[in-house]
Amino acid sequence: MFPATRLRRLRRNATFRRMARETRLSVDNLIAPLFVRPGEGVRKEIRSMPKQYQLSPDEAAEESRRLADKGIPAVILFGIPEHKDPHGSQAYAPDGIIPRAVERIKQRCPELCVITDVCLCEYTDHGHCGIVERNRDGVPDVSNDATVEVLVKEALAHARAGADMVAPSDMMDGRVGAIRRALDQAGFPDVPIMAYSAKFASALYGPFRDAAESPPQFGDRRSYQMDPANAREALREIALDIEEGADMVMVKPALPYLDIIHAAYERFDVPIAAYNVSGEYSMVCAAAERGWLDAKTVALEMLTSIRRAGAQLILTYWASQAADWLEK
Ligand code: PBG
Ligand code: ZN
Repeated sequence: MFPATRLRRLRRNATFRRMARETRLSVDNLIAPLFVRPGEGVRKEIRSMPKQYQLSPDEAAEESRRLADKGIPAVILFGIPEHKDPHGSQAYAPDGIIPRAVERIKQRCPELCVITDVCLCEYTDHGHCGIVERNRDGVPDVSNDATVEVLVKEALAHARAGADMVAPSDMMDGRVGAIRRALDQAGFPDVPIMAYSAKFASALYGPFRDAAESPPQFGDRRSYQMDPANAREALREIALDIEEGADMVMVKPALPYLDIIHAAYERFDVPIAAYNVSGEYSMVCAAAERGWLDAKTVALEMLTSIRRAGAQLILTYWASQAADWLEK
């Protein structure tokens, strides 16, 4: 009998499709990135990222309130300090931009999970993610162990201000273990670490560097971020971070690295996060502005694909809009 199996039977109407659907995208999966800068009443749109803003702490608190009211469980904060120096000292200042923003947001939204990005690139005048020293060849490079010491201070400053979770994004070796030990000793054993474990040296971070005012002033990040060609190495990075105490691990960017997300999901039992980065967002916005594609349909398709690959959490600039779309 031709054909006994007809896969189209279950695609015939919306109810069947709903019943057969394997992957669901929910507001529970979303983490909204926010850029905070000094001031009061500042809400400055980022040129290369439509509908994304640099916010002063009071505005970040209002924005967080709106996001929490839509059911979004978490935000991740990136700080733009009032001044930068070679050592990124504003990264760990107790009254720095992130501690101030965390306090304001937690006052306004006690139930919201406030995650802080722990890195130095927003705070160093050279724009690198760590302390730059000359290496054995006499070439300036990011020094791993000197950087880890500063990252530890930064993570502690964030935890003291009330951060619910810290997310080191620097790609130094051993930083997760060092931060875990320091948090435990300082009385923050319950603050989880979401590690940017497999972070690739991607050209898709372009708009973010505009948003965070953090482009590297010389060279690039390939001596610490991963080579996009490497999948097996990504799994080693993730395994190490889990051993060192990471509670969640992240793959970044998301869409060109769905294979890594999927492999991590199959291999590890911790929640997997994926960062749908600035370039992935801005490409869709730019094409939508030209009428070349429909932003809503494309964004929901992309977010669903990231879920299907195995990410439980998605850091995405679509978070606020996606929450509205999913409600309907
Ligand atoms: C900082 C950091 C970056 C991103 C998140 N944390 C930029 C970089 O590594 O250059 C990129 C996020 C995005 O593009 O949306 N280490
Ligand atoms: Zn960085």
